[in-house]
Amino acid sequence: MFPSISSTRFLLLYLVLLFVPSPTVAFTWQVCSTSAGNFTANSTYESNLNLLLSSLVSNGSVPGFFTDTVGRIPNQVQGLVLCRGDTNATTCGSCLNNAKLEILRLCAYNKDAVVWDEECLLRFSNRQFLSTLDNDPTAALANLNQVNYEADRFNKVVNELLDSTADWAAYNSTKRYATGQAFNVTQAVPNIYGLAQCTPDMSTSDCRQCLKGVLQGLPQGRMGARNQGVRCNIRFEVTRFYEGTPIIWLLSPLTNATTPAENATAPPSAPTAHPAVGPTGKEGKDAPLAQLIN
Ligand SMILES: *[C@@H]1O[C@H](CO)[C@@H](O)[C@H](O)[C@H]1NC(C)=O
Ligand SMILES: *[C@@H]1O[C@H](CO)[C@@H](O)[C@H](O)[C@H]1NC(C)=O
Ligand SMILES: *[C@@H]1O[C@H](CO)[C@@H](O)[C@H](O)[C@H]1NC(C)=O
Ligand SMILES: *[C@@H]1O[C@H](CO)[C@@H](O)[C@H](O)[C@H]1NC(C)=O
Ligand SMILES: *[C@@H]1O[C@H](CO)[C@@H](O)[C@H](O)[C@H]1NC(C)=O
Ligand SMILES: *[C@@H]1O[C@H](CO)[C@@H](O)[C@H](O)[C@H]1NC(C)=O
Ligand SMILES: *[C@@H]1O[C@H](CO)[C@@H](O)[C@H](O)[C@H]1NC(C)=O
Ligand SMILES: *[C@@H]1O[C@H](CO)[C@@H](O)[C@H](O)[C@H]1NC(C)=O
Repeated sequence: MFPSISSTRFLLLYLVLLFVPSPTVAFTWQVCSTSAGNFTANSTYESNLNLLLSSLVSNGSVPGFFTDTVGRIPNQVQGLVLCRGDTNATTCGSCLNNAKLEILRLCAYNKDAVVWDEECLLRFSNRQFLSTLDNDPTAALANLNQVNYEADRFNKVVNELLDSTADWAAYNSTKRYATGQAFNVTQAVPNIYGLAQCTPDMSTSDCRQCLKGVLQGLPQGRMGARNQGVRCNIRFEVTRFYEGTPIIWLLSPLTNATTPAENATAPPSAPTAHPAVGPTGKEGKDAPLAQLIN
């Protein structure tokens, strides 16, 4: 008896380890401009940049979004920071601080650069990009794992989930941020989690337009992907990667449901119940928006 118990434990531990994403793997992605040129050590541009970065980090962590301009052309530097919509001041502030160090290391002496971390982005440039809503540069990244089973359905659910999440972020959130979850996606992948966000200074239509762009550039057929720019970003994963209760709930019966068809097509009752942990923040007061997909 004893060996069989311990081998069961081993199997459980193995399964848990397999399915829990490692929180220690830090994500960083940068684009260092090749066309803007370099500044030199101890130059006016460098001191303007250092002032700008301090301002972005110290003033950006509470609203989670901040822009600033330091200096005069030709040594003017503009910058923007955006934290993911679910971060608090502590998480946002430490992400921005880290992004500041990384951008100076990864794009050393570059006049124009952007770095994306898991929970924030930082961009600066000698170009006056703040007066535009240009989302470039963008970076699309995909999970290495392909969707091998029920790929058509998986991809369809991803697109519906992200479309609804983008709608909510653009039209229903003053933060221009929303998350969603699709339930019962496939036998192999029970849940898909989605996120959409724009900078909060964008109009509803500009935000939706921007999200449409990153959605079109999102890699297909993967077990997770993101497309991130300066003004907006979109992402989905098969494991939960954001804090808080998602506002969009996409419900569907399992494709291979063993229950009779009439049961399977009825909207399931479980998801309409109020979640045990309510959404935080004034925007989260609404009940999740449930939609049925087929
Ligand atoms: C800028 O600096 C990088 C290395 O720091 C170098 O590879 C690149 O050629 C420089 N670009 C220009 C335009 O000087
Ligand atoms: C920049 O200033 C520091 C300290 O003032 C000095 O040590 C360094 O040599 C200077 N670098 C250049 C390239 O002038
Ligand atoms: C931002 O923070 C800096 C400190 O780094 C401060 O000097 C500056 O006044 C702040 N700017 C704004 C617009 O709040
Ligand atoms: C901020 O968020 C992080 C991550 O969710 C959490 O661990 C931390 O306790 C929060 N801090 C405060 C002060 O709420
Ligand atoms: C906005 O919220 C309302 C009510 O909470 C909901 O009915 C509507 O579908 C939402 N609109 C979008 C675009 O998500
Ligand atoms: C998932 O599908 C099963 C069987 O079709 C159903 O009983 C269950 O309520 C569904 N769950 C959700 C969250 O849609
Ligand atoms: C449905 O279930 C059967 C038997 O479990 C399995 O052979 C088949 O591949 C499943 N089909 C789908 C679409 O999951
Ligand atoms: C499915 O529907 C049948 C009758 O249509 C009912 O007897 C049965 O309880 C239902 N099953 C579930 C799980 O709701």
